[in-house]
Amino acid sequence: MMESRARSATPPGGIAPALPPAQIATVHEVIARLQEQPGALLPILHGVQDALGHIPDGAVGPIAHALNLTRAEVHGVLTFYHWFRREKPGRHVLHLCRAEACQAVGATALEQHAQRTLGTDFHGTSVDGAITLEPAYCLGNCACGPSLLLDGELHARVTPQRFDALIAAARKA
Ligand code: FES
Repeated sequence: MMESRARSATPPGGIAPALPPAQIATVHEVIARLQEQPGALLPILHGVQDALGHIPDGAVGPIAHALNLTRAEVHGVLTFYHWFRREKPGRHVLHLCRAEACQAVGATALEQHAQRTLGTDFHGTSVDGAITLEPAYCLGNCACGPSLLLDGELHARVTPQRFDALIAAARKA
C-alpha cells in the first residue's frame, strides 16, 4: 500500500463526528433546495459534494431524516457510487480514466506513473495535500486518450511528461 492520507469514514452504525456549523448550514441548504425532487437522494449527495468537496459522515443523518430513509440506506448509496467522496479532498482533484479505450493507448502505464509520482493509490491524496487521485470509467473522450480530468477540466492524449507538467502547474496554483 502506498503512503497517502488515511481514510477514516464512519460505518453506518457508528457515531459520526459533529459537523462545523458552516457545513451543517450548507447541508441543510442543499437538502431544502432539492428534497422535493423525485429521487432526491442522488441530487442531494451531488449537491453536498459540489458544495463541500466531499460528503462528510455528519451529513448522512440529516439527509436520511429529510428523506425518511435510514442512515444505512443513505450510506449504502453513498458507498455504491465511486464518484462520491467521503473524505476531504486535496486542493486539486484528478480523475484518471481507467476504461478500455484509454487503456488501449497507455492509460495503465499512466496510472502507474500517477500513483508513483503522487505517492498514493486511487481514492487517496498526496501527502502534501495537493492532489487527490480518483478513478474514472470513461470521460467521453475515448478517441483522444489517455484522458484525465483535473479540477473538472478535460485533458487528452496525456503522456507521463504531460502529466508531470499538469501536476507541477497545479501544485503552484
Ligand atoms: S475510455 Fe477513457 S475517455 Fe472513454
